[in-house]
Amino acid sequence: MPTPALPPEFRPRPSLPVLRTERLTLRAVTSADLDAVYGYLSREEVCRYLLHEPLSREETERKLVLAEKSTALRADGDTARLAVVHDDEVVGEVQLTLVSAATATVEIGWIFSPHVAGRGYATEAARVLLDHAFETLNAHRIIAHLHPDNTGSSRLCERLGMRHEALHRSDLWVKNGWEDTSIYAILRRDWAARR
Ligand SMILES: CC(C)(COP(=O)(O)OP(=O)(O)OC[C@H]1O[C@@H](n2cnc3c(N)ncnc32)[C@H](O)[C@@H]1OP(=O)(O)O)[C@@H](O)C(=O)NCCC(=O)NCCS
Repeated sequence: MPTPALPPEFRPRPSLPVLRTERLTLRAVTSADLDAVYGYLSREEVCRYLLHEPLSREETERKLVLAEKSTALRADGDTARLAVVHDDEVVGEVQLTLVSAATATVEIGWIFSPHVAGRGYATEAARVLLDHAFETLNAHRIIAHLHPDNTGSSRLCERLGMRHEALHRSDLWVKNGWEDTSIYAILRRDWAARR
């Protein structure tokens, strides 16, 4: 019997490197980012479609301390958060979560401060992170989970070339209610074809 072909292997990393674009620097979040991160995670409009309510300063700090320690993408469920810096100011963040090393599947996420909305920073930051995930981490498939009403996020997925693959009905119990989840995804071959 021939040996079954193995899927491409995810290349685990102890941390994500500093990534640069024309306008932005992406680097690991630290507790020193508290003022900026609390500035947006404490806002109702920013958290409307996130899994949590607006955070207190103490909650934001606790999450940053945890994020500072969890930079590796080695085991399923590991998450790395990167601050997005423009002109020395943290304007938002992007993150990668290793969903499954066996199938080289990674989830991408993003949160930006409303004061920089509409400038293309989220698109620019997500693009360089997708490049890194496909080219360096050897991801096969990158997904995004979003609330179906989060049109800012679905437009961002579409700008990145991600396809709407599914609408999971009532699969999340969040903020005291059942919510649907929209799934977007892009494969390495789709990404390569766009370059
Ligand atoms: C989702 C989110 C990051 C999208 O932010 P955004 O400002 O729409 O995204 P970008 O920074 O990429 O900006 C894109 C907009 O800027 C415009 N733009 C201007 N210059 C641009 C450039 N150089 N490149 C790309 N777009 C540019 C685009 O046309 C687009 O405008 P449009 O929305 O009118 O079509 C933001 O709404 C957010 O942080 N929301 C709260 C947190 C959240 O819900 N996160 C997602 C959970 S799933």
